[in-house]
Amino acid sequence: MKSARNDKSVAIALEGVNMSFGTRRVMHDLTCEFARGKITVILGGSGSGKSTLLRLIGGLIRPQSGAIYIDGRDVTKLAESDMYDVRRDIGMMFQHGALLDSISVFDNLAFPLHEHTDMSEDDIADEVRDRLDAVGLANAEDLLPGQLSGGMLKRAALARAIIQRPKILLCDEPFSGLDPISVKRIEALLLQVNQRYEMTTLLVSHHVATTMRMANHVLVLKASGAVSGSPEEMRASADPLIHNLLSDELTDNIDDIEPEGGAARA
Ligand SMILES: Nc1ncnc2c1ncn2[C@@H]1O[C@H](COP(=O)(O)OP(=O)(O)O)[C@@H](O)[C@H]1O
Ligand SMILES: [Mg+2]
Repeated sequence: MKSARNDKSVAIALEGVNMSFGTRRVMHDLTCEFARGKITVILGGSGSGKSTLLRLIGGLIRPQSGAIYIDGRDVTKLAESDMYDVRRDIGMMFQHGALLDSISVFDNLAFPLHEHTDMSEDDIADEVRDRLDAVGLANAEDLLPGQLSGGMLKRAALARAIIQRPKILLCDEPFSGLDPISVKRIEALLLQVNQRYEMTTLLVSHHVATTMRMANHVLVLKASGAVSGSPEEMRASADPLIHNLLSDELTDNIDDIEPEGGAARA
């Protein structure tokens, strides 16, 4: 087997990663890889380490040992100052910490470009409007996040995650709290973004039916390590845990619906 770290079709590879929080060991010698430009769905029981995996790849936390290769470079060995370059290529759409409440949608998207690039005001405005257009929020640029519905907020968060045209997009529960129509809309947008910008996309969600429809590859986190394959291979798996995780595929396991357009949000 050729090493994943030198294989151009592999964007991200973990080798022997160990991650503990205090005495709680979440990852034991985890080895897995993610295909460039594809959508990989990460499945696993609650507490299996899905969010931790995304935070490790996003460089928000570091493992105790092991390597995390992004485009062939082990980011666990980088100094904090060099992590900045790596993070710029990674868009994150996480459940918490999305938009700043006190500034407009436009300014939320422009902010990273002002901070991290020397682009002109005109170029920044072009980029912001291009991304807002892509997520169907062209008319919402002057609104504050608090004035958006749940579905619009998720779309704004997606637009901000991709404002710097990252090579990698990490999404943790992008559908949670949304009504079925908004789920469909975010699903379509994620597929569109993946294709338009050829982003390597990692997706964690308990909306199993939706994500299995979107997946090019599936990675299942188990206590004994990671299992990966195509959606078809996963559906044909005899493994009881995988069978159990996919049984939600029939129902999509939607538990927390919030009507689009409603002002109520936490
Ligand atoms: N910052 C942290 N401090 C302590 N424990 C944590 C922290 N982050 C995650 N954990 C623990 O690690 C395990 C995996 O968490 P997580 O990756 O969030 O699981 P998942 O997203 O698959 O539900 C859980 O037992 C969780 O309590
Ligand atoms: Mg999680």
